[in-house]
Amino acid sequence: MHEDIREVLFSQSQIQEKVTELGQRLTEDYKDLNPLCICVLKGAAPFMSDLVRAIDTHLEMDYMAVSSYGNSTKSSGVVRIIKDLDTTVEGRHVIVVEDIIDSGLTLNYLLDLLRRRNAASVKVVTLLDKPGRRTTGLKPDYCGFEVPDEFVVGYGLDYAEKYRNLPYIGILKKEIYGDAG
Ligand code: XMP
Ligand code: MG
Repeated sequence: MHEDIREVLFSQSQIQEKVTELGQRLTEDYKDLNPLCICVLKGAAPFMSDLVRAIDTHLEMDYMAVSSYGNSTKSSGVVRIIKDLDTTVEGRHVIVVEDIIDSGLTLNYLLDLLRRRNAASVKVVTLLDKPGRRTTGLKPDYCGFEVPDEFVVGYGLDYAEKYRNLPYIGILKKEIYGDAG
């Protein structure tokens, strides 16, 4: 275990098992719909890449990068698009792939945007959900694990761009991020 991690929440094999399960559900629900899987960069990239390989139906992939103004551990709800989609979502069945839903503000903005662009349907799959911090009514359609109100890193999730490459998800030691959270 990395020395900056206080506790491992989900091991590599627990994550893999969950991803397989989510993939099976999505396979059934999206059979013949050719869904467009949208990865919200950068955090969701490892999850997206494992998830699509667990989905056994035609699908397309696209990527979007957004930044929410605010400090590194709290989102402000004001979202800026850093990289937009290459694909037109009009008439498409969209699956937004997220790493974690915290307040829900970032995702609320994205869902709104995709609906305004006339997607046929928009659903959300998130690996992690922190329901204790929700300030919006948002609920993911598919969720891997619920997590406590702690700052978690690994498997795509970062603190100051670090720890994304950890193969597991763990709680970051408080002394690493100080008062920022
Ligand atoms: P909101 O509040 O808009 O925030 O739902 C979602 C985004 O906030 C980041 N986030 C975290 N990143 N560990 C992280 O590495 C966490 O515990 C955490 N909580 C929120 C993340 O970028 C997410 O997409
Ligand atoms: Mg994110």
